[in-house]
Amino acid sequence: MIRIAEIKAEETYPIRKSVLRDGMTLSHEMNADHDADTLHLGLFDKDQLVCVGSFMKASNAGFKGLQFQLRGMGSSIGSQGKGYGKALLTNAEQILKDRGVDLIWCNARVVALDFYSKLGYTSIGNLFEVDQVGPHFVMFKNLK
Ligand SMILES: CC(C)(COP(=O)(O)OP(=O)(O)OC[C@H]1O[C@@H](n2cnc3c(N)ncnc32)[C@H](O)[C@@H]1OP(=O)(O)O)[C@@H](O)C(=O)NCCC(=O)NCCS
Repeated sequence: MIRIAEIKAEETYPIRKSVLRDGMTLSHEMNADHDADTLHLGLFDKDQLVCVGSFMKASNAGFKGLQFQLRGMGSSIGSQGKGYGKALLTNAEQILKDRGVDLIWCNARVVALDFYSKLGYTSIGNLFEVDQVGPHFVMFKNLK
């Protein structure tokens, strides 16, 4: 039984730490974690939190309208490739669309490009390097 729910920033931290910050000195906490309009979503399988993603109001100069940035997208080790990420992101898009958001963008790790592409995200601009994490592209999806 799968359920997707809004969760607190702190609930995202174990998955962020293990999946996105393993072996790095970068903090798993993010500046906008506790902003009033930040949305943290979690996907639970049999009441176990297996996938998280956070959506934060942040404008990228390349885009117009009300924009949210997806950060901290991860499915726990052993839970990847089971459709959880897709379900969570699709659910988030609907929530944000209902809140009047025009566009979601993210700094996508190159290893995850196909995940986002399959969900309708487009890459834009040049490849760039994030210290400790590796190569990224900006990717976006219009919600309207
Ligand atoms: C990338 C990630 C969030 C995707 O979540 P997931 O739960 O594993 O993805 P899903 O099972 O919902 O996959 C949805 C589709 O994307 C594909 N996909 C998922 N991860 C992929 C990857 N890293 N590379 C290529 N394709 C991928 C799946 O094969 C699936 O394709 P299908 O619909 O044709 O079957 C997850 O694998 C993860 O946490 N990876 C490590 C951390 C990371 O890189 N996060 C992204 C930071 S930008």
